[in-house]
Amino acid sequence: MKTPIIAPSILSADFTRLGEDLATCEKAGANWIHVDVMDGHFVPNMTLGPLVVEACKRATNLPLDVHLMIEKPESMLEAFARAGADRLTVHVETCPHLHRTIQQIQSLGVKAGVTLNPATPAIMLQEIYTLVDLVLVMTVNPGFGGQNFIPEMLQKVAQIRKSLDENGSQAWLEVDGGVSEKTLPSLLKAGADAFVAGNAVFKHPGGITAGIAALHNLTLPAYRPEN
Ligand code: DX5
Ligand code: ZN
Repeated sequence: MKTPIIAPSILSADFTRLGEDLATCEKAGANWIHVDVMDGHFVPNMTLGPLVVEACKRATNLPLDVHLMIEKPESMLEAFARAGADRLTVHVETCPHLHRTIQQIQSLGVKAGVTLNPATPAIMLQEIYTLVDLVLVMTVNPGFGGQNFIPEMLQKVAQIRKSLDENGSQAWLEVDGGVSEKTLPSLLKAGADAFVAGNAVFKHPGGITAGIAALHNLTLPAYRPEN
């Protein structure tokens, strides 16, 4: 198993001091920075675009894990790659030509991720397991931070873990939504190896550093499934 990744989602950060929050995340041992892009169409919320991704790139050395919750993502891939995205994740629900979209992302020199809404079955990934660099399982309905984890998604994570292994894939299996000290252990056990966390990091009572440490501690070898 890979060393698990903690990816704070800046959706829950204080945007008046984004640079400082990113620096704190980096110092606290975060592995990636998760950036949620929403267009007000695919999801009922609107957030940020390439301009803010480019600002994040200047503020941190951590890889930028960019989650595109937008319609017609193919038209924006180049702009996000140019802005400094290291990973670009698209929703299956927005990509009628998913195979081509994955190739388009990789041709830009960026790792390609694919994600599924809670109601979208894992079978939608069947033909692209050997192609993708990352699979993201949404464990809430996308659009907002601070929502409750949907426990039924554990089974989907386990099913996708099995399929990735059967296909000999080295792709990351990431989870996003309601990840906390309470939910992380069961997600780890189900086979997830990258954990997006918004509120559990930025709204932790002890602050960002304590939030990241708490999640990291739960991924230490003693907690890993094989032990
Ligand atoms: C939800 C976003 C998530 C969100 C997670 O649409 O994709 O990345 O920020 O926030 P928490 O961890 O608070 O559920
Ligand atoms: Zn996200």
